[in-house]
Amino acid sequence: MTGSLFAVSDLHVSYPRNRKIAGRLRPESADDWLIVAGDVGEVFADVEQTLAGLRDRFATVIWAPGNHELWTHPNDPVQLRGVERYDALVRMCRDNGVLTPEDDYPVWTGPGGPVTVAPLFLLYDYSFRVPGVTGKEESLRRAYAAGVVCTDEMMLHPAPFPDRESWCWDRVARTRERLDAIDPAMSTVLVSHWPLVREPTEVLRYPDFAQWCGTELTADWHRRYRATVAVYGHLHIPRTTHYDGVRFEEVSLGYPREWVRRGTPPQPMRRILGDGS
Ligand SMILES: [Fe+2]
Ligand SMILES: [Fe+2]
Repeated sequence: MTGSLFAVSDLHVSYPRNRKIAGRLRPESADDWLIVAGDVGEVFADVEQTLAGLRDRFATVIWAPGNHELWTHPNDPVQLRGVERYDALVRMCRDNGVLTPEDDYPVWTGPGGPVTVAPLFLLYDYSFRVPGVTGKEESLRRAYAAGVVCTDEMMLHPAPFPDRESWCWDRVARTRERLDAIDPAMSTVLVSHWPLVREPTEVLRYPDFAQWCGTELTADWHRRYRATVAVYGHLHIPRTTHYDGVRFEEVSLGYPREWVRRGTPPQPMRRILGDGS
């Protein structure tokens, strides 16, 4: 098998210029796969249209949710909240042939394989706090005082869980079971909208924002689950870094005001595995 495993995130297609870029994403070969690591958009129908379009073009599309898909936005006719919304997104993906964190993990057998590709839905639990801050309450108070509050606080409802961290802990427990069941001889590509380790958040312009970016509970997952690559987004800081010798790829497109600053029109699709020859 030839081809490449590509990844992209944070397409944010509610912006017309981003929608155009998403519409132009094309495989280089008929065997190429595409990982979409969350934040396609917040309106349910937009998410479906984008993922269905990508599935028409790529041999396999693998999606993990971002916070924006999980928002219940006042402009969205689909007003489902929390777990019900996530479940509806999973059903929609299945109807369109897109793989989700609830499906069997596919195995990439092209160049760089075989490797198990695991899309994860984990959320965050406010544990990426700035130094010296001891609890969620103090951490949130600081963020409100600084005017750095993630819109999730208003739009990402955790129902039926009492709060987002409880939902996160449930997701972490379920996901550990799934990952523990992978053949220990297999290496993995771990895909999560939020970074598995906190180091990538150290370059955030507003350090208080890190509390909405992940959980300390996954700090050793890239080693424990034999990751070849860990793919994430959410930070809108596209780059490649290494932690404990594991490659981490932040694959976000980001908002137009962000990518315009970087100059050239973006080609946000990143080759994760494969040689492009
Ligand atoms: Fe985003
Ligand atoms: Fe995000």
